[in-house]
Amino acid sequence: MNNIFYPNAEQFNNSPIPDMETYHELVAKFDKDYEGTWAKFADEKIDWFKSYDTVLDESNAPFYKWFSGGEMNVAHQCVDRHLETKKDKVAIIFEGDNGDKKTLTYAQLAEEVNKTANLFKNEFAVQKGDRVVVYMPMILEAAITMLACAKIGAIHSIVFGGFSAEALRDRIIDAEAKLVVTADGAFRKGKPYMLKPVVDLALEHGCPSVENVCVVQRNNEEIHWEEGRDHSYNDLIQKQSAICVAEPMESEDPLFLLYTSGSTGKPKGVQHSSAGYILWAQMTMEWVFDIKDSDTYWCTADVGWITGHTYIVYGPLAAGATTVMFEGVPTFPDAGRCWKMVEEYKINQFYTAPTAIRLLHKMGEDEPSKYDLSSLRVLGTVGEPIDPPAWKWYYEEVGNSNCSIVDTYWQTETGGHVISPLPAATPIKPACATFALPGIMAEVIEEDGTPTPVGEKGFMCITKPWPSMIRTIWGDPERFKKSYFGDCKKEGQPVYFSGDGAMIDEEGYITITGRTDDVINVSGHRMGTAEVEAAIKKHDNIASVAVVGKPHEIKGEGIFAYLVLKDTSLASEALKIDINKIIKQEIGAIALCDAMAFVPDLPKTRSGKIMRRILRSIVKGEAITQDTSTLEDPSIVSTIENIVNT
Ligand code: WT7
Repeated sequence: MNNIFYPNAEQFNNSPIPDMETYHELVAKFDKDYEGTWAKFADEKIDWFKSYDTVLDESNAPFYKWFSGGEMNVAHQCVDRHLETKKDKVAIIFEGDNGDKKTLTYAQLAEEVNKTANLFKNEFAVQKGDRVVVYMPMILEAAITMLACAKIGAIHSIVFGGFSAEALRDRIIDAEAKLVVTADGAFRKGKPYMLKPVVDLALEHGCPSVENVCVVQRNNEEIHWEEGRDHSYNDLIQKQSAICVAEPMESEDPLFLLYTSGSTGKPKGVQHSSAGYILWAQMTMEWVFDIKDSDTYWCTADVGWITGHTYIVYGPLAAGATTVMFEGVPTFPDAGRCWKMVEEYKINQFYTAPTAIRLLHKMGEDEPSKYDLSSLRVLGTVGEPIDPPAWKWYYEEVGNSNCSIVDTYWQTETGGHVISPLPAATPIKPACATFALPGIMAEVIEEDGTPTPVGEKGFMCITKPWPSMIRTIWGDPERFKKSYFGDCKKEGQPVYFSGDGAMIDEEGYITITGRTDDVINVSGHRMGTAEVEAAIKKHDNIASVAVVGKPHEIKGEGIFAYLVLKDTSLASEALKIDINKIIKQEIGAIALCDAMAFVPDLPKTRSGKIMRRILRSIVKGEAITQDTSTLEDPSIVSTIENIVNT
């Protein structure tokens, strides 16, 4: 599929970037006056309480500051400022796993946010700057909690509900959270599942910072109750006033932390700002999704990931849109669930991950044709490269060859999209993220900043700071510098390196080729090899271990573990099951290994470094091109190959 797909002009009216000419004009404006152009958007989009003094402060690079001196509030930007014109417009549509439906208008959302903000302030003494860990299902209260934190200036840190007690504990400790907000549990595929017991376990030892746990009722299952520590959201909320004045926040005050995996060590708490973050969340909703006042938008992500932050809650609400929150899974009760919802809510923009598209393609190839999907205008993908067959099905069967597919490339650290087609403008090449968005200086370069030649793999860098970028790693500024500004330079200055490789073609189209580090992308979620290995090492019989990504039909990549045992006589399927149990306990089910192999040793250099590239090549069935002569024991490579291939 080397065809180019042009936007269908009939689908798009009054788009903010209607054609490539406008795109190039905008890019030129940023080139000519970078700060001035950003300032223009900041003035136009943000409802400032107090205007800023400086657009970009680079004095302490790479700890960049945007819009310093300005004051605003993200909850005001997302909710309160809309009350004048949109109070009866639906802000959020909730659909439960079991088909429950609830909606909140902007006026109702404002009330709920205020009551919740007052609850956190009055009952739990949460103050500006305090950290609140949120361990919640996809229910309205999750969005309300985020906005309530923003309203009073508390910093939320959402932990995805699929993470284990251990993982939750680590994140609570690192952030020194004062309050944990959770739910009894929720529903998934028609059955209740639990969250509160995981919080109980996490808090059992070692979380001295946590004073209170606020529990929302969702599935009404029985839960353990710790008097004095645990509080019922549903009871306490009744008594709260529906009026709450937004805390004036400095532009750079942190809005949230979100933990993500790196190539080494423990997950890092990515810290985002208030003004710069919300500005770009709102602008990309308008540019990339072409969101209009009458649109209903649905992103299937979970609020536990950055996609859920920026493109379920903050971006859509800042743009004054109607956003859908879905508790369930795309395949329950059948593989037509999403299309049924698109028909019912007349969804205009649908945003999901390639892994979900592959699954729906496989399980329900003809399902889309059973529903009226004519409301769709923009189809989005995110999280991993989309393969051409999945792209084709999405385009033809879901989009009826009539929608623009936006393959959005970005990361937890970038806050919002950085490379993406613009639905009304960009001629699309399938499975290609296309061009940098205006304002984002995304470049494919070599370590020294020279442009990588056409058709060759280079480093995916962003060579100027941008408003929604990561500000630091919570509690570890050195790691921030080292992780993102340690690898590539341009004109002698360290620039942001994403960790991804990319390729640029003759026409300037950018294709992301995947991580260059030891991060595995499982179903569009980042897993650090170091974390999985640390979990596996907790098993008594493990001498050494290496995990690598292995191509997987649905997930994109699955996790494959090479295990070296202390006592090789104990190698068995049962041992593999035990290892996965430990992973589930330490990290969560998302990090389970798909396959494992017992090997006598790992390929190591004489200095003891594990040659992961060789291990990656072996699971992919690729010929080994690396020089194995420097290995401590070169014969180990063929030994491992034989084990894996039989
Ligand atoms: C990593 C970021 C951003 C929200 C979801 C994941 C990969 C992301 C694409 C894309 C190819 C992509 C990259 C990136 N990635 N979008 N459109 N094409 N790869 O956020 O967990 O921070 O992961 O996901 O490797 O570095 P994340």
